[in-house]
Amino acid sequence: MLIVMSLGGSILAGELDARRFKTYADAMKQISKKHKLLLVTGGGVYARKYIQTAKAAGADEVTCDFIGIDVTRLNAKILIAALGKAAYPEVPHDYNEAAVAAESGKIVVMGGVLPGQTTDAVAAALSEYLKADLLLIPTSVDGIYSADPNVDKNAVKYSTMTASELVQMSGRTSLSAGSKSPVDPIACKLIERSGIRTIILDGSDPENLIKTIEGEEQEPRKECNGTVITP
Ligand code: UTP
Repeated sequence: MLIVMSLGGSILAGELDARRFKTYADAMKQISKKHKLLLVTGGGVYARKYIQTAKAAGADEVTCDFIGIDVTRLNAKILIAALGKAAYPEVPHDYNEAAVAAESGKIVVMGGVLPGQTTDAVAAALSEYLKADLLLIPTSVDGIYSADPNVDKNAVKYSTMTASELVQMSGRTSLSAGSKSPVDPIACKLIERSGIRTIILDGSDPENLIKTIEGEEQEPRKECNGTVITP
């Protein structure tokens, strides 16, 4: 399979920790033995800290987005270092560069691309461009809920939902630089239009990513413990 994964900063780089990068790199190497893999890294806590500081200093939203993009690319560089020879050595700056890099057969790691979105949207656009078989969006929660499960104890988790339902839900999300939500609205729209099979799942343990992909390899597919977005 050709798999694109949006490795959000909140799971990969909450706080910077080399062991965490190494643990995810090992899991990614294991997955890449059987599958073609492209990773998009998020900015995490540091992107937010930089953006907040820049905003307080008077920076406009687009400048803050560019700062966020720089941090996502720094995380991509750390992950490339952790992957060693298994990774394509450069961080692609756009989808064409990523497509060329993927021809190397190595794991490709990139960060943000354009202001006004997050790396989930980058991963969704990359999936569409490369006609990926699967888009995985690991997050700090184990799927999409009817409400924030940390705030509302009556929140229910959806095991599946349609891409249009995801779009409706994301319409309530802010697009301000550094804003926090499960999946950004642009990513949702791209998932809807591409029809790419997408799974939003708990990424706090990389083993869950390996297991979910193994489940996807089976015929019929094994049920996963995240939320599957159907076209
Ligand atoms: P992230 O993708 O990390 O956003 O980009 P996030 O929602 O905080 O995701 P997690 O929590 O890491 O998973 C950080 C910021 O970088 C800018 C945006 O300002 C975003 O909020 N960015 C990123 C862009 O403007 N364009 C991009 O293509 C990517």
